[in-house]
Amino acid sequence: MSSPEWRAIEALQPPRLETLFAQDAGRVARFGVDVAGLHFDWSKTHLTTEAVAAFEALAKAQNLSGKREALFRGEVINQTEGRAAEHTAERGEGAPDSVARAGMLHARMRALIDAIEMEALGPIAHILHIGIGGSALGPDLLIDALGRDEDRYEVAVVSNVDGCALEEAFARFDPTATLLVIASKTFTTTETLLNATSALEWMREGGVEDAYGRVVALTAAPDSALEWGVDETRILPFAESVGGRYSLWSSIGFPAALALGWEAFEELLEGAGEMDRHFRLAAAHENAPMLAAFADLFYTQVKGAQTRAIFAYDERLRLLPSYLQQLEMESNGKSVGADGQPIGRATAPVTWGGVGTDAQHAVFQLLHQGTQLIPVEFVAVAEPGDALADEHHRQLLLNCFAQGAALMKGRANEADPARAYPGDRPSATILIEALDPRSLGALIAFYEQRTFVNAVLLGINPFDQFGVELGKEMAKVAVQGGLDFDPSTTDLIQRALG
Ligand code: F6P
Repeated sequence: MSSPEWRAIEALQPPRLETLFAQDAGRVARFGVDVAGLHFDWSKTHLTTEAVAAFEALAKAQNLSGKREALFRGEVINQTEGRAAEHTAERGEGAPDSVARAGMLHARMRALIDAIEMEALGPIAHILHIGIGGSALGPDLLIDALGRDEDRYEVAVVSNVDGCALEEAFARFDPTATLLVIASKTFTTTETLLNATSALEWMREGGVEDAYGRVVALTAAPDSALEWGVDETRILPFAESVGGRYSLWSSIGFPAALALGWEAFEELLEGAGEMDRHFRLAAAHENAPMLAAFADLFYTQVKGAQTRAIFAYDERLRLLPSYLQQLEMESNGKSVGADGQPIGRATAPVTWGGVGTDAQHAVFQLLHQGTQLIPVEFVAVAEPGDALADEHHRQLLLNCFAQGAALMKGRANEADPARAYPGDRPSATILIEALDPRSLGALIAFYEQRTFVNAVLLGINPFDQFGVELGKEMAKVAVQGGLDFDPSTTDLIQRALG
């Protein structure tokens, strides 16, 4: 049953977007927020002052401010796993003890980076980073977004257990100049451990006598890494209370810190810290993660949106949608609340997206004329990342902004309905001044905090992920030769593997 706060939200009936603009000359400023070199324009969503007030009432009823403080104080808010969620401590915003511990672990990470740069492990040109999910998506995003002009190290992030993924890296890299980085919070993930074993073998076969001497482990289970054979001096631990999909700020960020430089890694943490402070201190109506979460919930709860699409209008951010898929769907794709009861309403929409302008020529048809309402998010960067003629960047940005305008405005065509555009389709835009470690840190922290607000307002614990366990277990049984499957699955196994 809906609470009075939810009923007030469900009763919201904002007019068309164009009417909202016509009614309020200050709308752009009212639903715009500037933080850490990022401009958040939520004015082309159906948020109104009334809607924000209704969501603020829900936030109060759900004790958002208390839960936010509990997050930053390092209290045990991940109840099902009995631990805190201390990713913010990695960027200096958390319980003093946890911030100090993170600082110590960062110092250890830095010392190893210095040693590698001084060739203590021999000359290194290639970094082979092996991990999956939160142990791969973050470093991959950082290096892809920020490392284009860096040429000190070539990095490959390999996650899939499909040998094709590893072979691709083997073909590019020289085993005698490769540093093998094994990233796994639990150090039990089968894909990662199999890939690491095969990579070690490739190094040995490639003439590296002491292959283990070139291995670095990033983990919250240092004893398991030690048992696996990694030397203690090259195990970079992080706290158990840092969740996998929130871990790029910890030693999981090691390949990025090595490839981009320590200063860049520190700036990334500072940018994220700035967003944390904004999230903690800004009033709801000018709080970027909160406004974004309010709009998310308006569309899923009131308008029945089942997906949300994110388009990076910047090639450097092409991995952002897949990073956000794990962050948002693994955090909030649940049907049982933090209190163990069914939630009884829609939870996380499907996060999907792509890169502009490519996506315009592939999926935008459905956005403009399809039957589903899909809130769209554009992420663009004012300063170009390329050195070509200005015209490239100008066209890129103008395409981005024109798409938002077209989605909102639409175009009637009674004579030819196939050529009519209904309009009133919402979009939000994040405009980054310049893409650098600081702004990227702030951007990622924004998405983390927005995910947290969504979770609190829905009553979800965003920090566990039991949904992935059953499939993992059954795959293990299958790998061990267990045959107790349904007829279809048994038939597929027999057909493919004999
Ligand atoms: O299967 C899901 C998951 O547990 C993610 O939450 C995590 O990021 C990923 O697997 C990798 O886990 P690990 O870092 O322990 O290898």
